[in-house]
Amino acid sequence: MPQISTFDTNPAARAAELREEIRKHDYLYYVEAAPTISDREYDALMQELLDIERSYPALVTPDSPTARVGGEPLKIFPTVQHEIQMLSLANTYTREEITDFDRRVREGLEGEKHQIVSELKYDGVAVSLRYENGILSIGATRGDGVTGDDITQNIRTIRSIPLQVHPTFFEGKEIKNFEVRGEVFMMKDDFVAINTDREERGEKLYANPRNLSAGTLKQLDSREVAKRPLSMMCYYLYSADVRLQSHSDNLKLLREMGFPVSPHVQVCDTLEDIFVFIDSWDQKRESLPFFIDGIVLKVNSMRQQDMLGAIARSPKWAIAYKFEAAKAQTLLKDISFQVGRTGVVTPVAELQPVFLAGSTVSRATLHNGDYIAGLDIRIGDTVIVEKGGDVIPKVSGYVAEARPADAAQFTFPTICPCEHHTPLHRPDGEANYYCDHAECPWQIRRKLTHFSSRDAMDIEGLGEKVVDQLVELKLLFTIADIYELHTHRDELLALDRWGEKSVDNLLAAIELSKQKPFARVLFSIGIRFVGEGGAKILARAFGSVDGLASATVEQLTAVPEIGGRIAGSVVEFFNDETEMAILNRLRAAGLRCELSDNEQQSISKVLEGKTFVITGELEQMSRREAGEAIERHGGKVSGSVSKKTSYVVVGTSPGSKFDKARELGVTILNEEEFLIMVAG
Ligand code: IVH
Repeated sequence: MPQISTFDTNPAARAAELREEIRKHDYLYYVEAAPTISDREYDALMQELLDIERSYPALVTPDSPTARVGGEPLKIFPTVQHEIQMLSLANTYTREEITDFDRRVREGLEGEKHQIVSELKYDGVAVSLRYENGILSIGATRGDGVTGDDITQNIRTIRSIPLQVHPTFFEGKEIKNFEVRGEVFMMKDDFVAINTDREERGEKLYANPRNLSAGTLKQLDSREVAKRPLSMMCYYLYSADVRLQSHSDNLKLLREMGFPVSPHVQVCDTLEDIFVFIDSWDQKRESLPFFIDGIVLKVNSMRQQDMLGAIARSPKWAIAYKFEAAKAQTLLKDISFQVGRTGVVTPVAELQPVFLAGSTVSRATLHNGDYIAGLDIRIGDTVIVEKGGDVIPKVSGYVAEARPADAAQFTFPTICPCEHHTPLHRPDGEANYYCDHAECPWQIRRKLTHFSSRDAMDIEGLGEKVVDQLVELKLLFTIADIYELHTHRDELLALDRWGEKSVDNLLAAIELSKQKPFARVLFSIGIRFVGEGGAKILARAFGSVDGLASATVEQLTAVPEIGGRIAGSVVEFFNDETEMAILNRLRAAGLRCELSDNEQQSISKVLEGKTFVITGELEQMSRREAGEAIERHGGKVSGSVSKKTSYVVVGTSPGSKFDKARELGVTILNEEEFLIMVAG
């Protein structure tokens, strides 16, 4: 890394130098997975470049790595016409169908010899990247295959995608203008981390990495996209500059150009090679750090691909083989229960450990009492456990013939599994049971860790382990006790592995948390159903704890986005004497219990100028609530689709508006994508 900055003397040269340096490190980190500098050093390079570009705006280039942090939010995604239609693949599920495919290929090629390239089928979202003179000019979604959305700003935030490629030659000719296609997806670990955070906050979990990736790519604010760790694998190259020969050469070229390309590719000469490839990945797929949902088979020669052509929207030269969701049978030994921070009691299947697609499963989710009753699952049953595109295994049924004669129908417990044996209750219209005991130790721990977590009060040093330790020692009982820990300094110092420094750091972090804005406090205190977004809305609408405490259900539901469920829970919370005592102690400790003047003036304009049409039934909210959410962010709701419509939100059983939207090329959002958009 250059040590002396030339920023002052020659900013243009220094900017170029920094870009080169950052590009190199992006490639080493995101494509090679072999970084050579620390995150801190990398951040320093990026900061220096940002500073130069801020001082000399004329020096900003479209391929500058500073584009990675995102730009101004868009009002709408322009549509782009694909130069070559983006086809999709026909699916197959059996060896016979693959054999048929191979036969059709042979017939189509009039008996010519052919090779098939086998590669992984990434479970994500297809995108197209266009480069002009080696610089990324357009990133687009597949859309209907003919036109897609221009999501260039979002694509630029994905670090493994080069914004500029170095000159690359094929058979002596430079490839300057070209198109690359591939799949954008999220690593399992990154997905789990995002969901763990959401769970801590009591927010709804994303179903799987694919939906989250799709929702993220459709965000209009690319700065939000930049915060999400998306990855890409490229599997297609087209350029009119050169005469490309084979798919396997293209993959090699893509790799040379600096694109991320899967290392798990095999050129197969026989059907047997293909079957071996498929079987081995069916076995190994669980050990991959990302989801694949099958194998893609492609004729290798580009000339032969052209000879074969396409029917309807699928090429005749390629096919997908889809894996079955991995399933296993095992004994359901027991059903246990977990109590979350809001008191929700979740049933968990305790299984005879069984090896399923790469790992041993001994527990699986049973969701709630209705799920168990619906499937009539009983302790002692041999159950079916499934691992699909979702991270957590689930019990999906039982084997009728194997049911023991004495297996009794399962009844959900009426008492909390904690030491207080509190009667559980199930609110009207809900599938979940709750424990309401304020001293339930399960809840206490969850409440404390939620309170101190990063997106809540962000108290560094008060993680799960420390919370457990302090609860055990009876130093922490409620969240208000956190602010009295300073009176127990000596006891803290006496703890194993705690020194002056760590105790002082913790106490300083606690003190610092008192600066957190009111909305954070409201989110952190753990009102059931009030997530981060809900807390912001309530804080803005009612201004203070006192304002909120005196609000009625009617006043609460009059706020767009606040439904009956949240309103009921807020009223219940503020009527609870124990909660109020805790809240008063927090207030006395100096936590912010009202909006600052500055905050009072700002309101969301994220969707300003955008028109939405909603069609079909939504699962999470009524259409009215969805409409209110849009208006709350400054958007408008309309009853009919036109060219001016920005988005059509599509639920189950959509009407003709869905077809109209497709016809007009209006951006279509599913419910999850929509929720992500209005959550921010
Ligand atoms: S090739 C005409 N290769 O699967 C060929 N697609 O079901 C088009 N996908 O839309 C795609 N991994 O989103 C191809 N190695 C791979 C793939 C892949 C995942 C996705 C892609 C495509 C869908 C087709």
